Amino acid sequence: MQTATEEKIEAFVWDAKYNTGVDVVDQQHQKLVELVNGLGAISAHLTSTEALGPILTELANYTVYHFNTEEDLMKQYEVDADHQDIHIKAHKHFTDQVMVAAKILMGSTDVNSQLVAPLLKYLTNWLVQHILGSDARMGKEILALQAGQSHEEAVRTANAFMSQSANVLMEALNEMYGKLGDKTLEVIQKNQELEAEHEALRILNEQLEQRVKERTSDLEQANQHLQTNNVELKQLNEKLESAQTQLLQSEKMASIGQLAAGVAHEINNPVGFVNSNLGTLGKYITSMFSVIAAYETAEARVGSNTCPEVSQVKKTADFNYLKEDIPSLLKESQDGLARVTRIVQDLKDFSHVDESNWQHANLEQGMDSTLNVVANEIKYKADVVKQYAGLPDVECMPSQLNQVFMNMLMNAAQAIDQKGTITVRTGKSGDEVWVEVEDTGKGIAPENLNRIFDPFYTTKPIGKGTGLGLSLSYGIVQKHHGRFEVKSQVGKGSTFRVWLPLRQQQVETV
Ligand SMILES: Nc1ncnc2c1ncn2[C@@H]1O[C@H](COP(=O)(O)OP(=O)(O)O)[C@@H](O)[C@H]1O
Ligand SMILES: [Mg+2]
Repeated sequence: MQTATEEKIEAFVWDAKYNTGVDVVDQQHQKLVELVNGLGAISAHLTSTEALGPILTELANYTVYHFNTEEDLMKQYEVDADHQDIHIKAHKHFTDQVMVAAKILMGSTDVNSQLVAPLLKYLTNWLVQHILGSDARMGKEILALQAGQSHEEAVRTANAFMSQSANVLMEALNEMYGKLGDKTLEVIQKNQELEAEHEALRILNEQLEQRVKERTSDLEQANQHLQTNNVELKQLNEKLESAQTQLLQSEKMASIGQLAAGVAHEINNPVGFVNSNLGTLGKYITSMFSVIAAYETAEARVGSNTCPEVSQVKKTADFNYLKEDIPSLLKESQDGLARVTRIVQDLKDFSHVDESNWQHANLEQGMDSTLNVVANEIKYKADVVKQYAGLPDVECMPSQLNQVFMNMLMNAAQAIDQKGTITVRTGKSGDEVWVEVEDTGKGIAPENLNRIFDPFYTTKPIGKGTGLGLSLSYGIVQKHHGRFEVKSQVGKGSTFRVWLPLRQQQVETV
């Protein structure tokens, strides 16, 4: 971009031919030329339009000052009256023109070269023709008077100069218009260049703004991404921790299962032979009592005093009591043994001995053995009420369904704070059966109902809940092509019902 210091536009170039020979006039003319050139710089965009005001003010002052000087001189030297008349009229006309132009320019909000240019053109034209015409003529007359000529001679000299000066004026005008034309072209060109630069800058600015916008949104996105990642990582970490707890838990359960299976197997044998021995013992004792009864009949026949020592032994042994108590002892032992047998059966059911086997099983029996296994956990919390419908056998994997029942029973017991009731019901509808566990516990808030089957969802303290019970159960029930139904009321209790088809469409191996 060009600056004012690199190039100076001169609308009006001072030249010796502009000299009138009257020193004071010539000095003032040069000052006016400077002012006109200052306007030229504004018109060519080389100077800010802010400079316009001061230049116009100075111009007005100098014109007044300068015209006064000229008019005083003319009066002083008694210059030709006709000339004075014309000359002063020209001054007045010029002053009026400049005033009007200055008013227009100062009143305009947007002073641009289009407005300054006409004034400039007028000023330069005027200066050229006025200085070379009127002023030059005036100068000639004053110089002639100063040289001692009479007034008539001086007027003649001055008028003769005028015809000569007309040629000089024409030449100067030509030269000046040529220069002005060149300058105008240059100014137009510069203007175009400046506008192009301005447009380029504007586009660059827009591009920059756009890029800043893009960068900002990129950064925002990256930031959001990071935050999401962070949240995901945290969740993952929590899940890992729960999974670890669960792994420990399931390992424990697996070893308990193995232990239970082993113990059940080991106990099964002795329980078997003790049971059969007890049966045999019962028969033997019955026989022995009949032998003793025969002896007693014989003793009665020979008289009771024949063998007093027998009576003594009978008395010491409290034989009559023995006779009554031995059968009930045997009966009690057999009952106890039956109980042991049932526990063994429960342990077998609970352990995974028959896992993944599709069988036709009695779900009520499965529920009973599960109830026995968890009896310890429940008995202090709840009374258990059974309302069985007497279900037919269902095609299922019994040990897995027992796990489902156990989860439901444990959840029910854990939902009860002090003491409550757990009701276990079964029923049948068409080709389906259901088993439900109802509790009088704390219930589930509606907004949490759709989360309870989520893996790791738990409201229980660490160590007590893993949040996997229901999700595992859900998986098992799905494998059976069944479904869960849950009803719950906060503060009242919950009912978990499992629906199962009686028969599987296509038995799967799992
Ligand atoms: N009978 C119930 N009464 C109240 N809330 C229950 C019941 N059963 C399950 N829930 C809720 O469902 C959650 C998930 O249960 P579950 O998957 O068995 O995991 P856990 O028992 O380890 O917490 C429990 O933490 C509890 O908030
Ligand atoms: Mg649970």
